[in-house]
Amino acid sequence: MFRGGQTLLTVIAVSRSGAVDLRILNSVVKNNICTASVMADKFKLPERYGAGEKSVWVEYIQLASEYKPKVNLGQGFPDYHAPDHVTKNLAEITTGDNPLLNQYTRGFGHPRLVESLSKLYSPLVGRQINPQNEILVTSGAYEALYSAILGHVDTSDEVIVIEPFFDCYEFMIKCAGGTPRFIPLKPKPSECGTQTSAQWVLDPEELKSLFNSRTKMIILNTPHNPVGKVFTMEELEMIADLCKKFNVLCVSDEVYEWMVYAPKKHIRIATLPDMWDRTITIGSAGKTFSVTGWKTGWAYGPEALMRNLQVVHQNCVYTCSTPIQEAIARSLEFEISRRDSPDCYLTALARELLPKRDFLVKSLTENGFLPYVPEGGYFIVADWTKLGGKIDLSKESDRHADYRFTKKFAKEAGVLTIPPSAFYSEQNKCLGENFARFCFIKKDENLALADKLMKEWNAKQ
Ligand SMILES: Cc1ncc(COP(=O)(O)O)c(C=O)c1O
Repeated sequence: MFRGGQTLLTVIAVSRSGAVDLRILNSVVKNNICTASVMADKFKLPERYGAGEKSVWVEYIQLASEYKPKVNLGQGFPDYHAPDHVTKNLAEITTGDNPLLNQYTRGFGHPRLVESLSKLYSPLVGRQINPQNEILVTSGAYEALYSAILGHVDTSDEVIVIEPFFDCYEFMIKCAGGTPRFIPLKPKPSECGTQTSAQWVLDPEELKSLFNSRTKMIILNTPHNPVGKVFTMEELEMIADLCKKFNVLCVSDEVYEWMVYAPKKHIRIATLPDMWDRTITIGSAGKTFSVTGWKTGWAYGPEALMRNLQVVHQNCVYTCSTPIQEAIARSLEFEISRRDSPDCYLTALARELLPKRDFLVKSLTENGFLPYVPEGGYFIVADWTKLGGKIDLSKESDRHADYRFTKKFAKEAGVLTIPPSAFYSEQNKCLGENFARFCFIKKDENLALADKLMKEWNAKQ
C-alpha cells in the first residue's frame, strides 16, 4: 500500500521513534488510498477499447498452467516440427556469412521475401503482383489485420463481421473508432446425416440489410476459424456483388489457405471479377509453414489500398525480423520450385492433416460430441450438449455454458479446448454456447491420448 517514497520514509521514521502515531499513520493510509483511486481513474483502459481487456487466449493459457490438462487441443499450433528445410534455413541465416541478415531490413518487407510472395501469388490471382507496392510484410497476420483495419476504418464507418470471428477483429475496429455490424453463420440441418462445416451459412437477406452508405469494409475469413467452413463461389459472389454495389472494401483473412480438404477448393475473393481493386488479402507464414512462433504474415492488394496499411505499419512496427523473413523467402522459393510435386509442403500439409481430422471427428462422435467435419483449417467445432447430463456445471461460475463446459471438461477429462462464444459479439454469444473448439494439428500420439482420456472420462460418468 505504501508506494510513494516519501510516505514510506515517514512510516519508517515513525516506527524508529518506537511509538506509532496513529494520526500520522491514518493520514498516510488515507493519502495512499486517495492517490490509488485518483491514479486508477486517470489510467483506466481508454473507453474506445470497450471490453477489450478480456481475452480467451490469456485466460485459457493461464488455465492450462493451473490445471495442467494432459492434452492441449485449445490453441491453434502444431506440437511437432516444421519441415526441416524451413528451420534449417533460419539456423544457417543467423550464423552464416552475411552479418546484414541479422540487421534491419526494408520496412515494408524484406526484398527477397516480397519477391517470393509475388512469385507465389501472382499466378494464383491471375495478375502480376508488384512486390514493391502491392505487398506488405507484417508481424503475423495479426498485424496485417491491424494495419488493414486501422489504415482504412474511420470514425463513423461501419464494418461487417461474420460470426463466429477471430476475436481481435472487433477490438481493432473499435480501436479505429468504427462500428462493427455482426452477422452470424448459422448451422442449417444436415441433409445427409454427416454434419459438415458447409452447413454453416449466412442468411442472404440479413447480409444485404447490413450494407449501407456507411459500410466501409467487410471482413471475410476463409477457410474459417473456428468452423472450418470454406466459402463457396456462390457465397463469395454474393459478398462481392454487395461490396461492388455499396463501394465496400473486403479484407480477406486467408491464413488457412493451404489447409483445404478435397474435394473442396480455396477460392480467393480477390480473383472474382472487379474484386482485386477492393480486396486486401491476408496470409501467414506461421500457418503456412507450421511455425506460428515466427509471427510473420503479409497483406497483398492494389497499391492504392496498400498505401494506408504501409502508413500504419511504418509508424508502429516499421520493420519485421530480417532473418525470419529471409528464411521464409528461401523456404517459399524451395516450395515454388517443387510446386507440382506431391512433396510441396503447400499441398502436403492438407494431406498430412486429413487423417488427423478424421481421427478426431471419429473420436468425438464416439465420445458423445456432435462434430461438424471441417472442410478447411485445423479446428473442429463440436456440439457438447448431449454430454450435458454427464457433467455437473453447477459449480462453474462463468456466464456462458461453453466456458463452464470447457473448464470442467479440462479439469475432469484432462483435455483442454476453447469456448467458441469467445468468437461472438456480446449480443450473439449464446449462439456459441453449445460448442467446444478442438484443434487437430497435433501429434498422432496426442490425438490418441485425447481419445483415451475422453473414453475414460465417459466410462466414469
Ligand atoms: C483467422 C485467423 N486470422 C489471423 C490469425 C493470426 O495469425 P498470425 O499468427 O500469423 O498472426 C489467426 C491465428 O490463429 C487466425 O486464426
